[in-house]
Amino acid sequence: MTPDEMKRAAAEAAIEYVEPGMIVGIGTGSTANHFIDLLAGIKSRIDGTVASSEASAERLRGHGIPVLDLNEVGELPLYVDGADESNKYLHLIKGGGGALTREKIVAGASEKFVCIADESKLVDVLGAFPLPIEVIPMARSLVARKMVAMGGKPVLREGFVTDNGNIILDVHNLEIMEPVKMETEINQIPGVVTVGIFAIRPADVLILGCRDGVKTLT
Ligand code: A5P
Repeated sequence: MTPDEMKRAAAEAAIEYVEPGMIVGIGTGSTANHFIDLLAGIKSRIDGTVASSEASAERLRGHGIPVLDLNEVGELPLYVDGADESNKYLHLIKGGGGALTREKIVAGASEKFVCIADESKLVDVLGAFPLPIEVIPMARSLVARKMVAMGGKPVLREGFVTDNGNIILDVHNLEIMEPVKMETEINQIPGVVTVGIFAIRPADVLILGCRDGVKTLT
């Protein structure tokens, strides 16, 4: 099985969580794209979706799946999204695709967060994947200095602007031993819009596509 086939298998397993009449929160990235494509096959059974990025909204609309404004729908029963890393507690690093802020909003508005990934995303300690932080442009140097003080090596994501008009700093060299604490600390830095640690609100279910089948962690 290739990594892409493992992502597809995880997305297929996540379809089981979709119930008739649901409005489903939809993530961003190549694994979420598999989920979107599979959702197209059962689109008549759902009431619509809320997307975590313009890219996902476009793909959903391309399949004729309604995309709704989160403010119009309130609490969502289900959010399905990928991740860049997960530990066994389902604390995640997200934001490799730059959509972390809207992803955190949709995750925060959802009753159940089902994370889908290939087996390579499960790690013992978060941080080998550079931690994305969405930052208001004016605060770029301030946030970068604070991250250096925390032991990281921040790198500006060149030529990238988020859906919200901000920049991304990718912070290398972090060993995130206490994800909830680090998420809280980075959230306090002025100018930080969102840090890509999802630990205060972790995933509820992690579906991993593995070489020997699909594994589910809760
Ligand atoms: C998007 O900003 C990210 O959080 C994605 O969820 C993450 O990068 C997963 O990407 P893949 O599904 O493409 O591996």
